[in-house]
Amino acid sequence: MALLPYLILCLIPYTLASQRRLHPRDDAAFSPPYYPAPNGGWLSDWADAYEKAQRVVGNMTLAEKVNLTTGTGEFMGPCAGQTGSALRFGIPNLCLHDSPLGIRNSDHNTAFPAGVTAGATFDKDLMYQRGVGLGEEARGKGVNVLLGPVVGPMFRKPRGGRGWEGFGADPSLQAIGGAQTIKGMQSTGAIACIKHFIGNEQEMHRETTVLGPGYSSNIDDRTLHELYLWPFAEGVRAGTGAVMMAYNDVNRSACSQNSMLINGVLKDELGFQGFVVTDWLAQMGGVSSALAGLDMAMPGDGLIPLLGDSYWGSQLSRAILNGTVPMERLNDMSQVTRIVATWYQMGQDQDYPLPNFSSNTLDEIEPLYPGALLSPTGVVNQYVNVEGDHNITAHAIARDAITLLKNDDNTLPLSKNASLYVFGTDAGPNSNGLNSCSDQGCDNGVLTMGWGSGTSRLPYLVTPQEAIANITPSAAFYITDTFPSDLTPNASSTAIVFINADSGENYITVEDNPGDRTTADLFAWHSGDELVQAAAQAFSSVVVIIHTVGPLILENWIDLDPVKAVLIAHLPGQEAGYSLTDVLYGDSSPSGHLPYTIPYNETNYPASVGLLDQPFGQIQDDFTEALYIDYRHFLHANVTPRYPFGYGLSYTGFSFSNPVLTPLTPINTTFPPPRAPKGPTPVYPSTIPDPGEVAWPASLTRIWRYLYPYLDDPSSITPSSNASTSEYPYPAGYTLTPHPPPRSGGGAGGNPSLYDVAFTLSIDITNTGSFSGRAVVQLYVSLPESIGVDVPGLQLRDFGKTGVLDPGDVETVVLNVTRKDLSVWDVEVQDWRTVMAAEGVGLWVAGEGG
Ligand SMILES: *[C@@H]1O[C@H](CO)[C@@H](O)[C@H](O)[C@H]1NC(C)=O
Ligand SMILES: *[C@@H]1O[C@H](CO)[C@@H](O)[C@H](O)[C@H]1NC(C)=O
Ligand SMILES: *[C@@H]1O[C@H](CO)[C@@H](O)[C@H](O)[C@H]1NC(C)=O
Ligand SMILES: *[C@@H]1O[C@H](CO)[C@@H](O)[C@H](O)[C@H]1NC(C)=O
Ligand SMILES: *[C@@H]1O[C@H](CO)[C@@H](O)[C@H](O)[C@H]1NC(C)=O
Ligand SMILES: *[C@@H]1O[C@H](CO)[C@@H](O)[C@H](O)[C@H]1NC(C)=O
Ligand SMILES: *[C@@H]1O[C@H](CO)[C@@H](O)[C@H](O)[C@H]1NC(C)=O
Ligand SMILES: *[C@@H]1O[C@H](CO)[C@@H](O)[C@H](O)[C@H]1NC(C)=O
Ligand SMILES: *[C@@H]1O[C@H](CO)[C@@H](O)[C@H](O)[C@H]1NC(C)=O
Ligand SMILES: *[C@@H]1O[C@H](CO)[C@@H](O)[C@H](O)[C@H]1NC(C)=O
Ligand SMILES: *[C@@H]1O[C@H](CO)[C@@H](O)[C@H](O)[C@H]1NC(C)=O
Ligand SMILES: *[C@@H]1O[C@H](CO)[C@@H](O)[C@H](O)[C@H]1NC(C)=O
Repeated sequence: MALLPYLILCLIPYTLASQRRLHPRDDAAFSPPYYPAPNGGWLSDWADAYEKAQRVVGNMTLAEKVNLTTGTGEFMGPCAGQTGSALRFGIPNLCLHDSPLGIRNSDHNTAFPAGVTAGATFDKDLMYQRGVGLGEEARGKGVNVLLGPVVGPMFRKPRGGRGWEGFGADPSLQAIGGAQTIKGMQSTGAIACIKHFIGNEQEMHRETTVLGPGYSSNIDDRTLHELYLWPFAEGVRAGTGAVMMAYNDVNRSACSQNSMLINGVLKDELGFQGFVVTDWLAQMGGVSSALAGLDMAMPGDGLIPLLGDSYWGSQLSRAILNGTVPMERLNDMSQVTRIVATWYQMGQDQDYPLPNFSSNTLDEIEPLYPGALLSPTGVVNQYVNVEGDHNITAHAIARDAITLLKNDDNTLPLSKNASLYVFGTDAGPNSNGLNSCSDQGCDNGVLTMGWGSGTSRLPYLVTPQEAIANITPSAAFYITDTFPSDLTPNASSTAIVFINADSGENYITVEDNPGDRTTADLFAWHSGDELVQAAAQAFSSVVVIIHTVGPLILENWIDLDPVKAVLIAHLPGQEAGYSLTDVLYGDSSPSGHLPYTIPYNETNYPASVGLLDQPFGQIQDDFTEALYIDYRHFLHANVTPRYPFGYGLSYTGFSFSNPVLTPLTPINTTFPPPRAPKGPTPVYPSTIPDPGEVAWPASLTRIWRYLYPYLDDPSSITPSSNASTSEYPYPAGYTLTPHPPPRSGGGAGGNPSLYDVAFTLSIDITNTGSFSGRAVVQLYVSLPESIGVDVPGLQLRDFGKTGVLDPGDVETVVLNVTRKDLSVWDVEVQDWRTVMAAEGVGLWVAGEGG
């Protein structure tokens, strides 16, 4: 056996190399063409599903094929979007619906803790269980495709509005959170839709509209692979059925028709076998997006919804009949085969329920197609209770995410008879009523989630106020954000101050924040800092509870002597109250860890991760900080954070001992061994179908503005061109000759050898304190200089969490390090490169604290 890597067991010292630029460049980014779209069906895991799909698609008419690619229009059915149907084959209108934390705009559903809260648990099993619960609820409501998990944004921008929907500011944390969610969801037969692909790091100006283009995220190839693509690769490897393209451009090419991203990166390099769908109203063109690899358009409308226009639908029928879009593309778009195969892959041909709820209304009987002015009405809500026992998982996640930042004088846990004064609207209910703000678009009462499409209604909510009152009936509550002027607290009483910071999706503006956090900087909302300061003047013991979407600057009060303890409870969902009191009163020791870094000052971040706003022209968002976001930046720039990524205290103590490193697959080549060739994919006749297949059926009762695949006079359309003698202005680089399969591909998520486990590390964890509690082990790698490029000083690659350990108990945690975990993306070779025998690689273990 060659040299073993150098194993160091210690807490992470946050002092490393001085600042160096990764690769300075001033050439304008641009996205190279990548055509044609690779067909799916060549991976053995999907072979059965593709075989079934091929038999069906081979018998489909053009109208049926087009139906499955195109939504029926905004508000033209019960779900956020639905495709047309192909009922001859038992395929209904496929329902695509939000959200990553629960069934949006529905009833009797669980409002799970948000992604960032699941991330803070560092608990793979809870992440999986959350996915199972989400999948069961999707299935129970008849949602075929649940629009989650979110692994992009990645908190590149601390003020970005939707970081909280994902799992944290690190590619491996996102990757593990996303993959566990996908596996859990899809175990129920629901199709997961990982999103947003890719570079959607701020909300403002994300969308191309009639007013102008969305911003362009200009990302260099190495940064794309080593940061932003990383969790998508793991999501594809976990078998995600769908991928949603982001609103923004990447390198000045809209994600929904960026051939390099869809055809090149997703379908060829990552070997994605499912289907690619737009974000809502993000389609920019019909022929262009079809050729670039898009498979499904949602909700089907063109740039302006509700006009009955589509880039696809009848226009896709026309583009097939006139020969501009090759039949081969539509067949694979099966674009149609991909969609039908995914449906079979999850077993949705077996008794999958139809939608029994409507996201458009809570009434029982309403128009079936509210987007049409005249619509038949019917029962749209059956009020099916899909909650099951998911509140147990929701509660466990909310509790095990709670992150203890400070606990002077062992102020926590509180005794149940403690004299308590509780301050802040964030402890109480929404004063206008539960779910009174559409898509949670307000910050009123305890913050359970951010706002936008990534939300669900709360079936019920136990507030912290209620939970505390149940345990300490004498507690005094001041559910206001202004400190009472006439308060004389009892001596030796404790103040508990609740503060929060909110953000969300761009289509709702809350307290002047257009999704991203613009008004309170990275400080608490509602003058929360002043409330803490005032409490610290009146009390000698103050506990601060924070519900937040992301990093918050604590410097206005964190060092005040009376501020004894600080807990971040993240975004807990419906179980906000008792999950918190479990920890406050010591029934459970805190075991959450920060899924992002908390700095001393916002100026500590690189300038390039600030929000961008300009009135005219396309915003160029250059990712010049490259690999150095969050803790990678703080290490690189040698800036000490207030609390680093991964930080979190416990009521008890743990010791880590007996590390055993076991080599498994030797790293005896710097690049992975050659990939296997691609297997075969379904073949269909490429002849242009009979125009009669898309003629309006005589029997159809048309719904006004509904999107259909049919044309008025299809036989008047003649194939006027083919790709080699084109009358159509094909994009530069367009070709029908397939690319040679990329060397970095070969399996789901890339070359399967990348995922060979090079080492396992086992480590014994002992509870050395006097409380029961759970410990988290975080495994970071450092790569040697011999790798030849600048690399972040430390990168999280795996983590594990013990069960509840009583004092003196020991548990062994086993962590894995793969070849990919030790590799960099070689932009010249276009493959992952590591060092022979992992020589010089460092493995660092962090646990309690950071
Ligand atoms: C974007 O442009 C950069 C710089 O030219 C390049 O390295 C990268 O590969 C491009 N990415 C895509 C998806 O086009
Ligand atoms: C049509 O369906 C039949 C019955 O499933 C199948 O045997 C046949 O192969 C299909 N035809 C094509 C062209 O796929
Ligand atoms: C296309 O889907 C619509 C429903 O969205 C349905 O009315 C129509 O019959 C479908 N067409 C075919 C050919 O199956
Ligand atoms: C074929 O139809 C599509 C959809 O309407 C259109 O965009 C394209 O320009 C047409 N091609 C030709 C050569 O007319
Ligand atoms: C709605 O879901 C319930 C329970 O999953 C199921 O019994 C019912 O058939 C579904 N409704 C429809 C219209 O499929
Ligand atoms: C979950 O809900 C059930 C009632 O549906 C209740 O009995 C149980 O106590 C709840 N569990 C938790 C952990 O909140
Ligand atoms: C709470 O009760 C414990 C014993 O049950 C007692 O020691 C302590 O003094 C009490 N604290 C207060 C604030 O009453
Ligand atoms: C403050 O002290 C008074 C008198 O001892 C007691 O009745 C009251 O419950 C205390 N308030 C709190 C919030 O502990
Ligand atoms: C953050 O840094 C800026 C610029 O140095 C300074 O003006 C500001 O006071 C700092 N804020 C805090 C909370 O330290
Ligand atoms: C690397 O190790 C594997 C497993 O032992 C072996 O099959 C392979 O031949 C080795 N490759 C080289 C280049 O030594
Ligand atoms: C496309 O045009 C080329 C050149 O004229 C011709 O050889 C070829 O047969 C045409 N293909 C079709 C499908 O019409
Ligand atoms: C670690 O790797 C081993 C060997 O491939 C595998 O059996 C095990 O499931 C992996 N463990 C985890 C937690 O991924």
